[in-house]
Amino acid sequence: MLSEKMTEALNGQANRELYSSYLYLSMSAYFESVKMKGFANWMRVQAGEELVHGMKMYDYVIATGGRARMLAIEAPQFAWASPVDAFQHVYNHERIVTGLIRGLVGVAVSEKDEATKNFLQWYLDEQVEEEESSDMVLKKVKAAGSNQSALALADKELGQRGFKFPRGFQIFPYSAKLEGATIGSLKK
Ligand code: FEO
Repeated sequence: MLSEKMTEALNGQANRELYSSYLYLSMSAYFESVKMKGFANWMRVQAGEELVHGMKMYDYVIATGGRARMLAIEAPQFAWASPVDAFQHVYNHERIVTGLIRGLVGVAVSEKDEATKNFLQWYLDEQVEEEESSDMVLKKVKAAGSNQSALALADKELGQRGFKFPRGFQIFPYSAKLEGATIGSLKK
């Protein structure tokens, strides 16, 4: 059974994960508006991953006897100056999220909640990957600068990113079925 403090902290983080999804969807819409479909695909897949992060936390709160609470999701930024600007934002945002997850681990430790501490390890591992992958793209777009053919190449590469649910996670754990939909299948 989750303590009240732990429940509140997890609900708060689930909200930040959903905000992250919203932020990346906003970036995806921005890239759509400047006709960079591959960049838009990368962001859309990222938005899907963040949605899963939020839902996984929501499921955990319920499975451990807590009460999931839906908090207001703030409106994200609407436009960015360039791909570098957007990916710098992704990288900075992921570093902030890493700090938040560490804070959550701190709450689990202070609440002597070993199960939640273990549950959060998945998020810590995920953050290592996310910081690394956003930094990689950031370096790529920085190197491309305003070179249109380098940007077109990066756009093509980012268009290849696909979406995969984490092992064991079901978006519809009860009777609903996922029928043939794929996220991140935008093609040029
Ligand atoms: Fe779920 Fe990228 O933090």
